Amino acid sequence: MTYLWDLIKREPFAARREIVIATGVSGLANAAIVAIIATAAQTAGYDNINLRYLLLFAIAMTLYIICQRYSAIRMVRITTNIGQTLRVRVVEKLIDSEMPVLERVGTNRVVNALSRDATTISDSGEAMIDGLQAVIFVAFAYLYILWLSLPAFILSLASAVLSVSVAMRNQQLTQTLLGRQRSREVDFLNNVNDAIEGFKETRLNSRRRADLRADIRATSTAVAALREEIEDVHTRSTIIGRSALYILVALVVFALPTLVQTYNKVISETMTAILFVVGPLGLLVGIAPYLARANEAARAICELERQLDAEHASAPRLAANGTPVTLPEGAIALEQVRFAYKGSDGDLFVLGPVSLRIEPGHIVFLTGGNGSGKSTLLKLLTGLYVPDSGLILSGDVPIEHDNLQSYRERFSAIFSDFHLFRRLYGMLGTSETAVADLLQRMQLAHKVQFSGDRFSNLELSTGQRKRLALVVSLLENRSVLVFDELAADQDPAFRRFLYEELFATLKADGRTVIAATHDDRYFHVADTIVKLEYGKVDYVGPYERHV
Ligand SMILES: Nc1ncnc2c1ncn2[C@@H]1O[C@H](COP(=O)(O)OP(=O)(O)OP(=O)(O)O)[C@@H](O)[C@H]1O
Ligand SMILES: [Mg+2]
Repeated sequence: MTYLWDLIKREPFAARREIVIATGVSGLANAAIVAIIATAAQTAGYDNINLRYLLLFAIAMTLYIICQRYSAIRMVRITTNIGQTLRVRVVEKLIDSEMPVLERVGTNRVVNALSRDATTISDSGEAMIDGLQAVIFVAFAYLYILWLSLPAFILSLASAVLSVSVAMRNQQLTQTLLGRQRSREVDFLNNVNDAIEGFKETRLNSRRRADLRADIRATSTAVAALREEIEDVHTRSTIIGRSALYILVALVVFALPTLVQTYNKVISETMTAILFVVGPLGLLVGIAPYLARANEAARAICELERQLDAEHASAPRLAANGTPVTLPEGAIALEQVRFAYKGSDGDLFVLGPVSLRIEPGHIVFLTGGNGSGKSTLLKLLTGLYVPDSGLILSGDVPIEHDNLQSYRERFSAIFSDFHLFRRLYGMLGTSETAVADLLQRMQLAHKVQFSGDRFSNLELSTGQRKRLALVVSLLENRSVLVFDELAADQDPAFRRFLYEELFATLKADGRTVIAATHDDRYFHVADTIVKLEYGKVDYVGPYERHV
């Protein structure tokens, strides 16, 4: 239960104390009800109502109702809050983390944690309050039993310890099974992803669809089988736990009177108390699996958070030590920069060492075959990946942790897997006419309107989506523009506009353009061509010499 407890411990102490007090009072009231009924039962008669006990009973009952409701509301608020804040915190850490982290963690794990795990934790409040209440009730009832008879107390305490510990014994096993179920669940999510993203592909090929369907069934069956196994462990431990309880209760009734002389006098009160205790104890045994589930969810979400934290702590900030770092504009230089994608057994792909100087106001084209490292180099240049060795300089200032974010803010980039935001995040309040002008220039005015910081339509063709990304990129008004195969989906007329008009305008404006492209027809537009091959620079220089 440690993970769940760690989460609760982070909540304000005052809130936790209130819950414990309210639950304590309700548990006490609950125990008092038993005591009152047990005592009143002795004085019960056919022709008189015992008013004093009836009144006490009414008071205890009222206390119980008020406190129980109060603590339940507060506890549910705490767990709901934990689930919610945890979820927002993880998303915030995700947007604050670095690219290699997200590539490592994987989308489906994040989705699983944010949807399923957060909800499981939120839902555990009721089980926890029931558990806490049961513990307190049992504690008071046991004090009462102790007051009635020591031997009965010892026996029933033994029964409680035995049954709860039997129920807890399978905790480890349940935890392992829940972990296995989680990874199968991620497999299933991957399948669902295939079914949605690969809709067209499976429509055109029924054998592919049949194979995918078989896989979906298999993973789903595996999840179900694990679920059954977990429920079985749960049922077994509940049955064993409760049986242990009943056997020892039976001992109190059947064996104790023959062994202890004095016991006979208090047998009916003791029995009433024990009968009242059996319910809450059984409940304790029963809720253990729910808590185990919430605990497993807490473990998964905490682990994800820890992974994000590891990088979060070192994620660059715009303002180091509270003061924003200003970087001189100027040439961007790479000096012996090396970067590798790392796999479990060594480097998957090595880029560099690359040395390169990009003058402000220049147009630089990156060329080279598929997989030669163009996109990787663009991510390094923009500071999304940090070099394993070597230096990046901006206006002769080396880029380090403290100025990395300021460095990134020099760029506006359209990567090949760019994302369009419906709202103009980062530029809210931009003049609508400025956007309308750009939409006009990109020949999108008939498809997309812009008002209230929002684009009216993102359901566009591939080429149109890229043009809209270009609109956003130009609005950012950054000194360096980075494009990864921007022209690839454009028609010839727009391609010409892009290379011969737009790039020239940007250059005239003093802006730097760095573009990965295969369009050798337009290489003459560039001041510098950088050709990559297998992660190494094969050629740097003007277009003429390259030819
Ligand atoms: N996230 C990643 N993890 C591991 N390897 C990667 C990753 N991204 C790219 N690679 C590998 O790095 C190499 C260079 O990829 P990159 O995307 O930089 O090539 P590219 O020159 O842009 O190719 P293309 O012209 O096809 O866009 C490839 O061999 C690719 O498999
Ligand atoms: Mg690429």
